[in-house]
Amino acid sequence: MFYKNLVWLCLIFAENLQKISCLNNGLALTPPMGWLAWQRYRCITDCETYPDECVSEKLFMEAADLLVKEGYADAGYNFLIVDDCWLAKNRSADGKLQPDEKRFPSGIKALSDYVHSKGLKFGLYEDWGNKTCAGYPGILGNEEIDAKTFAEWEVDYVKLDGCYSNIRLMDKGYPEFGRLLNKTGRPIVYSCSWPAYQEEKGMSINYALMAQHCNLWRNYDDIDDSWDSMIKIADYFAMKQELWSRYAGPGHWNDPDMLLIGNFGLSYEQSKTQMAIWAVLAAPLLMSNKLYDVRPEFKAILQNKDIIKVNQDRLGIQGTRVFRDKGIDMWTRKIEPIRNGQYSYAVAFVSRRVDGAPYPYNITLQDLGLVNPEGYTITNLFGQRNIFNCVFTPTMNVKVRVIPNGVVFLRFNVDDSQKYCDEIQKKTHVFV
Ligand SMILES: *[C@@H]1O[C@H](CO)[C@@H](O)[C@H](O)[C@H]1NC(C)=O
Ligand SMILES: *[C@@H]1O[C@H](CO)[C@@H](O)[C@H](O)[C@H]1NC(C)=O
Ligand SMILES: *[C@@H]1O[C@H](CO)[C@@H](O)[C@H](O)[C@H]1NC(C)=O
Repeated sequence: MFYKNLVWLCLIFAENLQKISCLNNGLALTPPMGWLAWQRYRCITDCETYPDECVSEKLFMEAADLLVKEGYADAGYNFLIVDDCWLAKNRSADGKLQPDEKRFPSGIKALSDYVHSKGLKFGLYEDWGNKTCAGYPGILGNEEIDAKTFAEWEVDYVKLDGCYSNIRLMDKGYPEFGRLLNKTGRPIVYSCSWPAYQEEKGMSINYALMAQHCNLWRNYDDIDDSWDSMIKIADYFAMKQELWSRYAGPGHWNDPDMLLIGNFGLSYEQSKTQMAIWAVLAAPLLMSNKLYDVRPEFKAILQNKDIIKVNQDRLGIQGTRVFRDKGIDMWTRKIEPIRNGQYSYAVAFVSRRVDGAPYPYNITLQDLGLVNPEGYTITNLFGQRNIFNCVFTPTMNVKVRVIPNGVVFLRFNVDDSQKYCDEIQKKTHVFV
C-alpha cells in the first residue's frame, strides 16, 4: 500500500513538470527514439543468401552510419538497438552470453564501441526466460552474470522479452533484473515486455510496478507491417487509455511498439497517421526500416521536427482519443507551453473512412476540450505552416478535411495576444 501511494505521488509530480521518474535512473525523461531491428529484419540469419539483410554486425554498423548520415540522429533517433537472433546457440565455457561468431565476428563490445563512436547509444535484446522467442539462450538462472556482461559491453538500453518464462513470476523477475542492472552502476534504459504477456493471458496487471521498475514497457501485441495491425494497437490503447495513460510520464512510458514507416505495409497517408498517433501517445519512436531505402517523403515524416517536438514534449503527458464522430477519430494531448494554467494541445483528426473523397469535418475547440478563454494559435504540423497569426477562441469551429486512413495533425498553442481571427479567416480556412 505504501508503495502504491509513493508511485501515485511520483506520477502526479511528473504531471506537474518536475522531472521525477518512478524508476529513478534518470533516463528516458522523454520517450526513447531510435532504430530497432526486429520489424524489418526479424530473424534473418542466412548471411550467404541475404548478405545485406541478415542480423549481423555489418547490418548494425551500416544502420549506425545511416542514422547519422541521413539526419536521423540529428532529429533525435539516437538509440541503435539489436533485437533477437544475435546470440550463439550456447553460452561460452565460462557461462557468459556470446554472439553468433559468424555473424558477429568482432564481438558485441566492438559493435557497441562502433555505435558509440558515431555518437549513438547501443541497445541489446534478451529474454527473461529459458530461451529468447527465437530459441536462443535466455537469461533465466544467469541474471547476475548477464547484467554484468551487458555493463561490460557498455550497453545503454536493454529490451527484455518474455518468451519461455513463467508469466506469473514476472512481477518478481523483471524488477529483480532491473535491480541487477542498477547494481552494475551503468545507466541502462530498461524496456520490459512483461505486461504484454500478462495482457495476452487476461491477467490483471499492476502498472504501478511497471512505472516503478521499467523505463518503458510493451503493453500489447507485436506490431506487424500493416494498417490493420497498427490501427488495432491504437484502438486497444484507446480502449485502455484511462488506466494506461496514468502511468506514462518522464522516465516511464507505455510502448505501442515500432514505427512501420518506410517499410512495405503503410501508404504515405497511413504513415502520417501512425506518426501522429504515436506522437499523441507519447510513444517511444523506434523505427525499423531499411534506412538506405527509405523514400524521401517517408523520411520527411520520420524527421518532421514539429511532430517530434510534440512526441518529446517534456511534460510527458500521454494523450487520449477523446471523441469519435462520422468516422473521424480525434486524439488530443496536453503539451507545453502552459499559460495561466491552460495547456497547449496537439490534436490529430484521424479518418477511419474508406469512402473516397477527403472528408470535411467541423468541430468547435471547446468540444475537443480546448477551453482557454484567450484562445489558441494553430499550426498545421503536416501541411502548410503559419497560415494565420490570429487566435481561435473555444467557440470557434476548426474545419478539417481528412483523407481516407489519413490524418490532419494540428498544434494549438495557448496565446493571449487577443489578435482574434476575423470572420473571413474563420469561414474560409480548411486544414488539410
Ligand atoms: C550446446 O550445448 C549442448 C549441451 O549443453 C550440446 O548438446 C550442443 O551440442 C551444443 N550446441 C552447440 C551448437 O555447440
Ligand atoms: C526453465 O528450464 C528449467 C531447466 O530445464 C526448468 O526446470 C524450468 O521449468 C524452465 N522454466 C520455464 C518457465 O520454462
Ligand atoms: C540505482 O538506483 C538508485 C535508487 O533509485 C538511483 O539513485 C541510481 O541513480 C540508480 N543507478 C543506476 C546506475 O541506474
